[in-house]
Amino acid sequence: MQSITNAGHNSGEVLGPKSRAEFERSGRITPGGSMRAAPFFPPHPPYAASGSGCWITDVDGRRIFDCANNFFSLVHGHAFPPVIEALHRTLDAGTAFSLPTPSETALAQAISRRSPRLEQVRFANSGTEAVMFAVKAARAITGRPMIAKFEGAYHGAYDYVEVSLDSSAQNWGDTVPNSVLYAKGTPTSVAAEVLVLPFDDPQTCVELIGRHRDRLAAVLVDPLSSRVAMVPMRKDVRDAVQDACREYGILLVLDEVVSYRLGYHGAHELYGFEPDLVALGKIIGGGLPVGAIAGPAKHMAVFDHTKSKPAVSHGGTFTANPLTMAAGLAALDHYDEAAVARLNRLGERLRGLLADGLAAKGLRAQVSGTGSFFRFHLKTDPISNFRTALATSSQKVALAKIHLALLKQGFLVVPNCSGALSTPMSDTDIEVLAHAFVDAVQHVWENSPWE
Ligand SMILES: Cc1ncc(COP(=O)(O)O)c(C=O)c1O
Repeated sequence: MQSITNAGHNSGEVLGPKSRAEFERSGRITPGGSMRAAPFFPPHPPYAASGSGCWITDVDGRRIFDCANNFFSLVHGHAFPPVIEALHRTLDAGTAFSLPTPSETALAQAISRRSPRLEQVRFANSGTEAVMFAVKAARAITGRPMIAKFEGAYHGAYDYVEVSLDSSAQNWGDTVPNSVLYAKGTPTSVAAEVLVLPFDDPQTCVELIGRHRDRLAAVLVDPLSSRVAMVPMRKDVRDAVQDACREYGILLVLDEVVSYRLGYHGAHELYGFEPDLVALGKIIGGGLPVGAIAGPAKHMAVFDHTKSKPAVSHGGTFTANPLTMAAGLAALDHYDEAAVARLNRLGERLRGLLADGLAAKGLRAQVSGTGSFFRFHLKTDPISNFRTALATSSQKVALAKIHLALLKQGFLVVPNCSGALSTPMSDTDIEVLAHAFVDAVQHVWENSPWE
């Protein structure tokens, strides 16, 4: 395995001529020049040619140490040999059938064995789909139309869960958050069916849930919202929300699409949630497209299609395809308790090194996160909710510069300066990364300080 210390890091330009040519070619066939919004940053991202472990090689032959991991889905990094072997074994037998395959049962069993609360599983093709089907299931089970979600929380692209995603001081209201529509053109009726909760105010949560109890199907919770610094929801908030859900017969739907990797048994076990349904995604696909809805059999029965028309009809042409199932099984098999503990410890070490480095240089910044996740904020005030986490416009500009400065040195993080570690990374890698990060923050601070 190549260590970060003996890699030829990039120097000079961030982007090579072949990436630029690719971006121009792509801009003629797709709006925006690449097929997803999230990886884009100006002037344009490098185009990837290949990946191995925690390294990407771009089309110009530059090597990049990857802390974005395809948005935290590649817990073992790129081209993880057991995943590649499983894919080769599966590929020769065909890629998808209009029949079930034993591989779907095997991955479902692997997930259920790790988390006894997840008695049954249904797969989907993305985290977006998983959350959408969990919401539809909650509506069908309770016969109620509304959901509640936390301000700013990202749960994928379903209209209802996008509410309040980018609300701002101009429209978010006082202590009771407004339901603010996200995508232009979303029907206003969507906002009326979504209650928005504050992430750090249990009393207001309970009061709001109680007020809407007869119409609420589910409270949707990401236990580690990336928009709230990737720190766990406080225990008093969690208990208050969970108790209110129980009292009023509202389903607690946990979105573990990102946070599942934090514990061998999943995030619900780690943080003491007893969810009625869980949405999964990312690492359970071993690097291939995936989502899953899981939970106690009594709730999952809503998808049962064997008796009559199911309450919620769930499917999808590529759902549970054998390639994803085989890759996911290989990835989970190698993400055992020891691997989870090691990766979480590496993350803790990284955050410690970063905090020490920022403090030693007196930089106006902090690093947050949990387990193998980290996120940078260019402020020193405590962060407890979406509002206090939100970057000012000068901080957004500076974060973009730090992101580019890091890329110049050969490190890829998510454009908002968050990231996740992967199992091929070593302690030495983490030290070099921390050093580069602090240097990048200092460089930007000295040249264009933020407010
Ligand atoms: C918490 C959370 N839920 C859901 C999703 C949607 O997953 P996908 O991108 O696979 O649709 C994401 C994606 O990043 C996420 O972070």
